[in-house]
Amino acid sequence: MNWTVSEHSFESDRITTNGNKYMTGNGYMGFRGVLEEYGKEQLTAVTLAGIYDRSGDKWREPVNAPNGLYTVISCDGEVLSVLETEPLAHTQSLDLRTAVHRRETVFSTREGGRLTLTAERFVSMDQLHVLAAKWTVHSTVDCRVEIKTGMDSRVWDINGPHLLEQRIQSVSGALLSTAVTGELRLPVAVAELAEFGLAERVTDTGTDNNMDIRMGVNTDTDPELALRHLSFDVKAGETYEWTKYVAVFTGLDAEGNPGEAALSTVRSAAGEGYAGLLEAHRRKWEERWSRSDCVIEGDEEAQLALRYSIYQLLIIAPTMSEKVSIPARGLSGQVYKGAVFWDTEMFMLPFFLHSDPGIARNLMMYRIHTLDGARRKAAEYGYTGAFYAWESQDSGDDACTLFNVNDVFTGRPMRTYFRDKQIHISADVVHGIWEYIKFTGDNSILADGGAEVIWECARFYYSYAYYNPLKKRYELLDVTGPDEYHERVNNNAFTNALVQEALEIALRAAELLEDNYPAVYAELAESFAGGPFLAEFTEMLEQLYVPQPDPDSLLIEQFDRYFKLEEVTLAELKSRVIHSHEYWGGGNGLATTTRILKQADVVLMLNLFKGKFSREVKQANWEFYEPRTEHGSSLSACIYALAAADIGIPDWGYPYFMRTATVDLTGESKQYVGDLYIGGTHPAANGGAWMAAVLGFAGVQYDGGTVTLNPALPKAWKSVQVPVVLRGSSFRLEIGREAIVVTAAPGNSEAVAFAGFGGAPELCLPGMELRIVVFWEEDL
Ligand code: BGC
Repeated sequence: MNWTVSEHSFESDRITTNGNKYMTGNGYMGFRGVLEEYGKEQLTAVTLAGIYDRSGDKWREPVNAPNGLYTVISCDGEVLSVLETEPLAHTQSLDLRTAVHRRETVFSTREGGRLTLTAERFVSMDQLHVLAAKWTVHSTVDCRVEIKTGMDSRVWDINGPHLLEQRIQSVSGALLSTAVTGELRLPVAVAELAEFGLAERVTDTGTDNNMDIRMGVNTDTDPELALRHLSFDVKAGETYEWTKYVAVFTGLDAEGNPGEAALSTVRSAAGEGYAGLLEAHRRKWEERWSRSDCVIEGDEEAQLALRYSIYQLLIIAPTMSEKVSIPARGLSGQVYKGAVFWDTEMFMLPFFLHSDPGIARNLMMYRIHTLDGARRKAAEYGYTGAFYAWESQDSGDDACTLFNVNDVFTGRPMRTYFRDKQIHISADVVHGIWEYIKFTGDNSILADGGAEVIWECARFYYSYAYYNPLKKRYELLDVTGPDEYHERVNNNAFTNALVQEALEIALRAAELLEDNYPAVYAELAESFAGGPFLAEFTEMLEQLYVPQPDPDSLLIEQFDRYFKLEEVTLAELKSRVIHSHEYWGGGNGLATTTRILKQADVVLMLNLFKGKFSREVKQANWEFYEPRTEHGSSLSACIYALAAADIGIPDWGYPYFMRTATVDLTGESKQYVGDLYIGGTHPAANGGAWMAAVLGFAGVQYDGGTVTLNPALPKAWKSVQVPVVLRGSSFRLEIGREAIVVTAAPGNSEAVAFAGFGGAPELCLPGMELRIVVFWEEDL
């Protein structure tokens, strides 16, 4: 149950959002949820992970590959496309369990019959370069069907073109599209092969369905479109089936010639056949789900939304490369320049840490590989150490421009300070690496570059900080916190708390590295010896100002003088809006001079350091900041859900959880700013939905030693079941209101302690089932 997302009508105004909703992918590439007859106008895209290009002086963005699945069907000379003919019936669906996309469309034929076209496809999780698809046609009357299928190289680009020297050739029945990217001249090759099993029924006089196949490249209409034409007689009541295979390679991953790799892969895929490929793909998905599926008993709607959120994370997780991370819009296109933000560490990493530490490692290694870019950015601004890119691509240099938003009133680019002032990004990276070590115990990442990253980030903060001689404290001035509507503020509570943690981690990492890898430590420490290093970090840590709760109101001021800003309700602020796309932040932004914030800021900090603050403090700040939060970012609502669960009021959090978990199902998020498409999938929200369910409502918290389980389940939820991997050992948690069952896999190498409902920790040994029941006062 609850493994299928579907809809049963065709609505042209949902083409774009369905492209996101019905995404398939495998971390190497993403294939938007388009129909087979769609072209670039419908935002068809095969987005490749980790390969970027810049065309002219436009924004650098990821590269989209040609679409080898492009297909248009006609019947008795009439094109059967939802774009041209209103279908009699139409279903589009996604099976989350197996990651297979399906469509079934019924068209009326000229002769008054009904022709049913089905197509299913998947992006192989087993062979990451391969896409496979299967079509069927069935008609209630005899008719003649024509299929035009092949390669559509008219790719959708926001800031393209990126594929130069495009060429499509026909090579012994296969189509091969080759091109090079403009900037790095990386080859991109896509090969396609179609198999028409239709011709199997051969009679003495030829095929019994009068088949005519014209292979080869038809370039007379469009040089970027290579189609083979096939026509045949369809007999009423019979079903005709055919398959296609596509292989994608680039200069980043193919040793030797990507074109040859694509051709040989597509041929071997066709040799394995659709059913064989599907079975291998299905097995991989089964294995992925066994490590990550989260079962909510008692709430079907939440179950589907959560599973869907997890699905979205699984289709973009980088399994094959530690040089690739997850962009803010996943692999759903080129929006936000395909850039990696803090979203990865703070919103997606927790899911991978609990379910797939290998992917978590890849994500953190990506930051290690991009350290030089972060060093260049720090140096560019006159600082020491590593200032990570706000928008990071392949090199780690910042893709964020100084003018990232257009003013809708003047049309002029607006100066924004995302790039210059969101200094918390480096601390977010440090936090991520430390969480990785905490969950896996794998401190080899420190020796593999992690310690260098951590110390370079700490050095950056030391060089950025201001020592206030009168107050005798270090302060962080002129920063932007998570709430982007208030730029260039002083002592943002979130930023200061994260920097404090980064400095602590810098010191602890030194001890850990010295204990475990003394030779690496000695060498590195020598290179840092000129300072600032451990002595300076210690001194700054001891004197760093971190805003604390006011003793009376219990409120933490988001930044210096925040409480002096105009008090206005969100409704009142909205009534001041002149243009629906106007930006609320920046110099003249509506929110800038008020207490209205874009997204969770103080509450996010309270949630990250939940052990440091009392329930009363958390509740007071939740109640103060929530009504003042616009939730203008999809990173916001999940944090209020998490914090509400932590406070012990899950029903306050439930609507925020649902809003987060359904963002890509409903498509209810901003799609355009002016004429700029900003839609796409929302992986941070997907990760946030998982966090709210598991870390929030199920109350799972691991400190590197003990797992505490303090559930606060929403009204309808009976239990949450979730698998977790801690320090390489696997456990299944079944968390109910009154009882928790922890089952350890027999093959586990480590025992882990679990403490449920505020009780004492109990060790769960390999193969053991631990039952923890709620402790009632009257039991005494
Ligand atoms: C949010 C940022 C986020 C970015 C990418 C912005 O709207 O304010 O916090 O990192 O989107 O998701």
